Amino acid sequence: MSTVDLHAKIPNNVGLADDPKLRRALERWQPQYVDWWREMGPAGLDTSEVYLRTAVSVERGGWANWDYVKMPEYRWGIFLTPQMQQSLIHVGDETGRPSWESVPGEHRNALRRIIVTQADTEPASVEQQRLLSGLAPSLYDLRNLLQVNVEEGRHLWAMVYLLHKYFGKDGREEAEGLLLRRAGDEDHPRILRTFNSPCDHFLSFLCFTTFTDRDGKFQLAALAESAFDPLARSCQFMLTEEAFHLFVGETGMERVILRSAELAKADPNGDAQAQGGIGLDTLQRAVNYWFSNCLDLFGGEVSSNAASYFASGLKGRFREGARYADHVALEGMYPLEVVEDGKIVTRDIPLRRAMNELLRDDYIADCQKVVDRWNRRLQDIDSPFRLQLPHRRFHRHQGIYAGQCFDPAGNPIREETFEANRDRWLLSAADNEYIRSISAPVREPGKFAHWINPPGKGVGGKPIDFEYVRN
Ligand SMILES: [Fe+2]
Ligand SMILES: [Fe+2]
Repeated sequence: MSTVDLHAKIPNNVGLADDPKLRRALERWQPQYVDWWREMGPAGLDTSEVYLRTAVSVERGGWANWDYVKMPEYRWGIFLTPQMQQSLIHVGDETGRPSWESVPGEHRNALRRIIVTQADTEPASVEQQRLLSGLAPSLYDLRNLLQVNVEEGRHLWAMVYLLHKYFGKDGREEAEGLLLRRAGDEDHPRILRTFNSPCDHFLSFLCFTTFTDRDGKFQLAALAESAFDPLARSCQFMLTEEAFHLFVGETGMERVILRSAELAKADPNGDAQAQGGIGLDTLQRAVNYWFSNCLDLFGGEVSSNAASYFASGLKGRFREGARYADHVALEGMYPLEVVEDGKIVTRDIPLRRAMNELLRDDYIADCQKVVDRWNRRLQDIDSPFRLQLPHRRFHRHQGIYAGQCFDPAGNPIREETFEANRDRWLLSAADNEYIRSISAPVREPGKFAHWINPPGKGVGGKPIDFEYVRN
């Protein structure tokens, strides 16, 4: 089951060769996928050769092969982390029973919805980032963008495999639908609001990979605990790829932050923008914008869906197996801050109904560690500037804080106050316009745009001045 058939039309370790019906169905979906990629994948690079890693094995440390590839010819494959032994359910009411190898009828609709919602984010992000290939600040950064894009494409493959194999006709229709919706399209938008927001420039890409891919990490981690074993093992393998996306975001942002801090130091008024870089206040607004958008992705603070997904073992908490002793979570309350009569008060809600909020807590803690690391690097270069995460109530469109206004510290404010400060707190049209104005692509090996530092080292065992993308 875990041997990789790399020479198959669709590389896989799921035994496609022994399942002709499934193989034929996926081989029919494949050309539609490639058409979608040509239409919505990275613009203007179909014939370029890109130095990419391709998953060729699921063994730890041995799974990536690096070589020049033309992206439409990328070997998108289906990989599951191999099953070590009969695994047991370790979430919810059926804890201790064997995991499911097929989909129980009573959970079919919920599982399909969970898989489709996750799957939809993968092509959506490729679509959001489509034009960024023309704005990359170096060949190194362009390569990283394209690596992320092809891997999001592979994540779509992973989810489409589950839909085809386990959900029959419905699953096949959903798989087609995944290639028909479009990020930001008024008539056929992607499912989640955040995945319809435009990604206007490379700074937004770096925020996206820091904050939105990090949401992906937490959603995949919750699904990696699922009682439906093929889903759990798919998500475990996707997490290994997701780690690189987070690296691209965090280190990329760090390079911009440090560059801006240095330019600010060199300017008589401490203004990085006057020196041709990105202003430190703009960086804070980008963090505020992307972090607050991503908080919405965790769903309502109080959620009966989340409770039933947990109870039936469809999703777990972050590292459920390793971090918790009580996997049933019938006891216990979660103290939730709610707004009543304009005041913040704490109300206890049953733990199971707070599963979305628990995952959001873990996400926020992880984001805070990233910001702390950036701030330590600022301290190292004696910059007085520090970045902060805004409060979880700030600028929300989903859940109990939506429809009310809060400042970045989480204090309730009037709508007029919010609107008067919007451009001070959130990435503005003027910010986007300015950043795009300094975003001429840099395509000479080893050269970097003025507004970003070079990385500490290259990628894939190659030096910084390697020709990562060639025509
Ligand atoms: Fe992904
Ligand atoms: Fe990702």
